[in-house]
Amino acid sequence: MKVLIVGSGGREHAIAWSVSRSPKVDKIYCAPGNAGIAEYAECVNIGAMEFKKLADFAQENQVDLTIIGMDDPLVGGIVDEFESRGLRVFGPRKNAAILEGSKAFSKDLMKKYNIPTAAYENFDDPEKALVYLRTEAKFPIVLKADGLALGKGVLICQNLQEAEDGVKEIMEDKKFGNAGNTMVIEEFMTGREVSVLSFVDGKTIKTMTSAQDHKRAKDGDQGLNTGGMGTFSPSPFYTKEVDEFCQKYVYQPTVDAMAAEGREFKGIIFFGLMLTADGPKVLEYNARFGDPEAQVVLPRMKNDIVEVMEACVDGTLDRIDLQFEDNAAVCVVLASDGYPVKYEKEIPMYGFENFKDKEGYYCFHAGTKFKDGQIVTNGGRVVGITATGSNLKEARKNAYAATEWITFANKYMRHDIGKAIDEA
Ligand code: AMP
Ligand code: GLY
Repeated sequence: MKVLIVGSGGREHAIAWSVSRSPKVDKIYCAPGNAGIAEYAECVNIGAMEFKKLADFAQENQVDLTIIGMDDPLVGGIVDEFESRGLRVFGPRKNAAILEGSKAFSKDLMKKYNIPTAAYENFDDPEKALVYLRTEAKFPIVLKADGLALGKGVLICQNLQEAEDGVKEIMEDKKFGNAGNTMVIEEFMTGREVSVLSFVDGKTIKTMTSAQDHKRAKDGDQGLNTGGMGTFSPSPFYTKEVDEFCQKYVYQPTVDAMAAEGREFKGIIFFGLMLTADGPKVLEYNARFGDPEAQVVLPRMKNDIVEVMEACVDGTLDRIDLQFEDNAAVCVVLASDGYPVKYEKEIPMYGFENFKDKEGYYCFHAGTKFKDGQIVTNGGRVVGITATGSNLKEARKNAYAATEWITFANKYMRHDIGKAIDEA
């Protein structure tokens, strides 16, 4: 088989690595890819939003399966473009990717189908949002831009002043562009967060092992929100009881709700959960693998990823026995100092050879490129260092040891990824 992967981050590197292990696959392309993905795949210089060019490429090169890693092309309808040409593609169509693309849609869906989530109201008029905040709101309260905002469209407001500023930022100044035409105002919840990713074929859902992200830039969950500074898997807080509850009240009901709405979902559903005192509740849905969740979940998956993805496309996922290793993995992101605000790029990087032939150690590239034959930094999140271990503590020790193997001048990382493990 020939496989094309669309995307260029650490998540797509983990997907490419996983696909490279499939005995069914003899050629991988990645558009646009990065310096690490180039080890397994031929990188093609086409952007993820250039749907027609990507589909032309897949046709001209007889690609058998295209895997969409990123949210923007999914929400923009890349799958519809591929399907209209009879090309096999893994991911939800535009009318299903709305599960991630519109928070107002996903909240209304959960309300209609009794899927547990925070209480909320949707607003498309800033004046009405302000009246609501001044008369009915309890603080802290959460404001969310409806559309995609690089994981930055969520504001937790401690008081009315902050909330009024937030409405201005999202709906009037359009800090997140059209993503802020509509806004969700949501009850503030407390509890541990868990990410559960799943494969879905339209009717059947198979969940993967759990993971936990660390979204803030600095140790102790301080600093700004980022795309994710590190992950561990499994989450010791995701107990059998929590799983049973979510299988019954969250996972299958979401898939059934989408089907009932005429929006059959095929691909990955990522459930962002909060384990509250009143039970698990959905924080958000994503329509793709998490980044850096994929970097800890995929190295633990026993199945051939291509076989599972084909089963999703064909509607035969019920025949797949999805299995994970009985071990643990930790991923620590090495970022450029200053991320997520301002940072230097094109800094030379060293030490990649240290990962060669080291089983259970991975260096997944997120923002790297080649410059004059040398690998240099090319983004805020630069690489994700993943290591496995027989348990979480061992995996964390291994991952932090391996963070020393890669060097670059403005390297920055959190030192407390997986600290929560100690409290479990
Ligand atoms: P989201 O993009 O919806 O996952 O939101 C980003 C982050 O904001 C989440 O990972 C939570 O830490 C936080 N968050 C979102 N919604 C809520 C909520 N209703 N209550 C408390 N924290 C929230
Ligand atoms: N790590 C969170 C996300 O991918 O959305």
